[in-house]
Amino acid sequence: TSAVCSDWPADPVHCDWPNTASTRRKCNAPYHNRELHLSKNTQPAAGSGASRRPGWDLKGKVSDMENKVQNYQGKIKSANQENEYLKDSITKTQLAIQTSALGRCQDHLKESQELAGNLEETVAHQREELHLGEMERRKLHNAIQELKGNIRVFCRVRPLLTGNQSDVLHIQLPAHDNKALTLAKMEESHTGRTADTQKSYNFSFDRVFGPRAVQREVFEEISLLVQSALDGYNVCCFAYGQTGSGKTFTMEGSDLEELWGVIPRAVQQIFKSAKALRAQGWQYTFTASFVEIYNETLRDLLYTGKPNKRPEHEIRKISSNEITVTNLTYQKVNNEDEVHNLIMLANQNRSTARTGMNDHSSRSHSVFQLDIEGQNSDRDTKCKSTLCLVDLAGSERVQKSQSQGDRFKEMTAINSSLTNLGIVIAALANKDSFVPYRNSKLTYLLQNCLGGNSKTLMFVNISPEEESFSESLNSLRFASKVNDCVIGTASANRK
Ligand SMILES: Nc1ncnc2c1ncn2[C@@H]1O[C@H](COP(=O)(O)OP(=O)(O)O)[C@@H](O)[C@H]1O
Ligand SMILES: [Mg+2]
Repeated sequence: TSAVCSDWPADPVHCDWPNTASTRRKCNAPYHNRELHLSKNTQPAAGSGASRRPGWDLKGKVSDMENKVQNYQGKIKSANQENEYLKDSITKTQLAIQTSALGRCQDHLKESQELAGNLEETVAHQREELHLGEMERRKLHNAIQELKGNIRVFCRVRPLLTGNQSDVLHIQLPAHDNKALTLAKMEESHTGRTADTQKSYNFSFDRVFGPRAVQREVFEEISLLVQSALDGYNVCCFAYGQTGSGKTFTMEGSDLEELWGVIPRAVQQIFKSAKALRAQGWQYTFTASFVEIYNETLRDLLYTGKPNKRPEHEIRKISSNEITVTNLTYQKVNNEDEVHNLIMLANQNRSTARTGMNDHSSRSHSVFQLDIEGQNSDRDTKCKSTLCLVDLAGSERVQKSQSQGDRFKEMTAINSSLTNLGIVIAALANKDSFVPYRNSKLTYLLQNCLGGNSKTLMFVNISPEEESFSESLNSLRFASKVNDCVIGTASANRK
């Protein structure tokens, strides 16, 4: 190789590949393997050619130079060609790499798109199944509720507020039966000749809660009805009983979460369930109102205006299944806290009246209503219902001789509205063609929650003190009448 390489410059600048044996082997470029350029240490041929000619042979030297120049030019040309080739091959390689990377990306994209398509299909399928499942759940849930009866009566015995619970001898709750209650009284022999006799009154309800039952336990039974309200059924729950028997405790309870009554628990459940149903395309809107009926007059418990500017209210039937109250505050609510604030406002409104009118609250009915509207836009399904939670006025009968003037008027109003409640329920039970809803403000307002398309739950609250015996008996008798009623099969307000 020395003959060929002898003319080559010491530094093989024409090649970018590192000049080592291993890279030489890898290099595919033409010319490169000729090792033209690898003899770094070879002296330029010019020197040796020149030394062979005598000093006077200038022509020969010129000719040698010319040859060398030509030689160099040829090499430059081939080096340039090699450069062109390499540049071209780099461009081609880069293009090939890019093309194959692009190809791979496209394949990958296609695969991903297919996968996404499949997943979308699965999601749609599962959504459909979930929706069908939810509708099925509603149907079954409702079937169970209907089997349990669209009107149910629960009895709750308040604990003694002082003293030992075992002192309550006249109320007997069988340990093995949570549906029965016996009221018993020893009657002294009138003549004194025969032994004292015990007179017992047996009652049975859908459920009896003893003095030890806690709020959570009581609510568990109602939560199923609350669920029905979200499914589109009107639900009404009211507490009946003499003053002090625990109606307000049952319906509202107190601030401690453990002592929360039906209203705050129902509200909590409703917002929780509505949130869960959102994933299935259900959007709910809630509207709350809180009204007090005192002496057959309605009072807005959510009123925030000037006390002397309170408007008057009238109950109006605006369609076959819609009742509205004129000038009443209907407040849109979006969460539990907003409802709790409204309940606090209502309590403030009630307590102001209490100081002015001597425990006005025990002689008025308070009606909390939550209008629920659900919409599933994916499926064009709607449902609408009302949840009514009512703390009734004290059911105690006041001796006529003890009451005069306003107190007498008040008593008559309470008695007649509670009596009418009983009459309405009896008319519904008998499937009478005429139901006297309009005979009292209470039944008129509750019309939708008491009729065919509804589920009703009544608490009868009992005071455990012996002196309340006759009031307890009255309450239990009233509640038994209600319990014997079967309200027509409800159907959800679904469009
Ligand atoms: N189940 C109960 N457990 C503990 N305390 C109760 C219970 N029921 C009622 N009370 C208490 O008894 C009193 C009277 O109850 P309340 O709910 O105000 O009766 P009502 O509303 O029927 O007049 C209140 O102090 C209340 O906290
Ligand atoms: Mg009360």
